[in-house]
Amino acid sequence: MPSREIVNAVANQKWIETSAKPVQEAVRGAFVGGAGRELKNFLHGTWLGHPLHSALTDIPVGAWTAALALDALERMSGRKECGSAADLAIGVGLVGAVGSAITGVTDWSETAGSARRVGMLHGLLNLAATTLYTTSLFMRKRKKSRQSGIAMSMLGYAVASTAAYLGGHLVFGEQIGVDHTATADSGQPEKFTRVMSEKDLKENKPTKVLANGVAVLLVRRKDEIYALTETCPHAGGPLSEGKLVGDAIQCPWHMSELALEDGHVVNGPTAYPARCFDVRVRSGYIEVRAQRV
Ligand code: FES
Repeated sequence: MPSREIVNAVANQKWIETSAKPVQEAVRGAFVGGAGRELKNFLHGTWLGHPLHSALTDIPVGAWTAALALDALERMSGRKECGSAADLAIGVGLVGAVGSAITGVTDWSETAGSARRVGMLHGLLNLAATTLYTTSLFMRKRKKSRQSGIAMSMLGYAVASTAAYLGGHLVFGEQIGVDHTATADSGQPEKFTRVMSEKDLKENKPTKVLANGVAVLLVRRKDEIYALTETCPHAGGPLSEGKLVGDAIQCPWHMSELALEDGHVVNGPTAYPARCFDVRVRSGYIEVRAQRV
């Protein structure tokens, strides 16, 4: 069966949806108050400029792959130190799996539709793999059960690989964790381009305009006019339909807040900043131009 059909079969399982929604609500509800928001931002990776989860997943994948190779080496060479190193690698992978799970669940709590269902299964498989590796580690410590422990870690590797496959689909197929403005550069005006009459832009009213066919968000505050990409970097939400919170625009979809002045992330879930435009007023018209990096 082609891989896309397998993933679609998973994504269409309604029972997953039924159980996923309350879990998501519970996860979101766990981040209470200002401190909760700060913690959630940290776990999303707003401080890193990149989702923290995808960086941490390399730890269990790499460590458990190393353990697999070291087990094979011990079997071929009979060198006991390879087995000890495999045990250590499994332990390192388990530590990474905890961080990976916490950040992954936080990111997943802001998904919907098929991404939510595939993400739920991805998480459950990773939980199963982590349980298998934990059991394996205990069994490896006893001479009597060591070989069974090694077999259990091989099963864990197969389960973790399936989970990793679904994780790849979430990124490349569902566009979770990617910058939704990454391709916005194409078509952005390199020269100042007229977008609307200055007198028509109302104070504190997020307004969508087009510059060379590219959607741009304009916000007027006192004497300043700010221009950002209309598309939210998190999942493509329409920022002009959001509201102003302090000096930031809040996305209507998952409440990311992006600073009007320079697009930096005030609050996640987006880990990516918004792209900004240079703005000027000429002959009563607002003109924008892509900011030169
Ligand atoms: S699309 Fe998710 S916060 Fe904007």
